[in-house]
Amino acid sequence: MKKIVIILTFIVLSLFLMFLYGKYQMKHKPLVIIMMGPPGAGKGTHATELSKDLKLPHISTGDLFRENIKQNTDLGKKAKSLIDKGVLVPDDIVNQMLFDYINKHKYFSGYILDGYPRNVDQAIALEKFLPENTKLLVINLRIDDDLLVERITGRLMCRKCGKPFHKTFSPPPNNQNICDDCGGEIYQRSDDTKEVVVKRLEVYHRETKPVLNYLKNKAKFIEIDASQSKEKVYKDILLEIEKNK
Ligand code: AP5
Ligand code: MG
Repeated sequence: MKKIVIILTFIVLSLFLMFLYGKYQMKHKPLVIIMMGPPGAGKGTHATELSKDLKLPHISTGDLFRENIKQNTDLGKKAKSLIDKGVLVPDDIVNQMLFDYINKHKYFSGYILDGYPRNVDQAIALEKFLPENTKLLVINLRIDDDLLVERITGRLMCRKCGKPFHKTFSPPPNNQNICDDCGGEIYQRSDDTKEVVVKRLEVYHRETKPVLNYLKNKAKFIEIDASQSKEKVYKDILLEIEKNK
């Protein structure tokens, strides 16, 4: 009799602990936001703001490459000529760089991805990398190609923190080449020429757009009209995130 009571108590206690663990996991699901959209759609612009407002790290694979190019690392040397041509860096290099970066920084409670995944194979690699209980939110910035060339060829960026500016739409404060967030130098990206933008758009339509279909059933999907003003686009993004929380 005593033995049965002990076994029953053990079972009830185990079930209770499993229940508590389930509740804890529900509450602490990692949140991963994927910013999708063609070059110049505003992925970096809005990810920078979201990162501050949601207190989630912003990870841009493009920025990670640019940092490696600046530091003249082996990875930077491999990536530079491909980036300057407007084509994708091979998957194995991108995947390793990104996953090592996330693990190194222990970003286990979530982050905002900008510029990744960029083809279906990268989306599959990400799916394998993410913990099963991850809450995945895709923000797709929709915009026609003809609006993008002006945005990209006029874009300026902070060399230190990656904050984007624009010669006409959002010039750096006092027209000085200094970032108002971190004091870094403001410069123009070497792949932001008209010829390279055309190539980047072609690559986007051929390789990145299919990712949208692939992710449709695997994530919460938010469609945003990115042709509106920056302020309106960001307001729409926040509103949709609130609805989909
Ligand atoms: P990456 O750095 O990711 O470039 P991208 O995808 O081409 O996108 P952009 O950074 O050009 O655009 P964005 O959407 O961030 O726009 P932004 O907010 O700056 O990648 C560069 C290269 O790295 C790739 O070509 C590839 O070679 C390589 N690479 C990177 N990731 C890779 C991967 N996963 N796999 C393989 N290769 C990879 O806005 C643009 C401008 O418009 C700014 O000046 C901004 O101020 C302005 N703006 C934004 N919104 C508005 C608005 N609503 N109204 C007016 N102006 C606006
Ligand atoms: Mg960007």
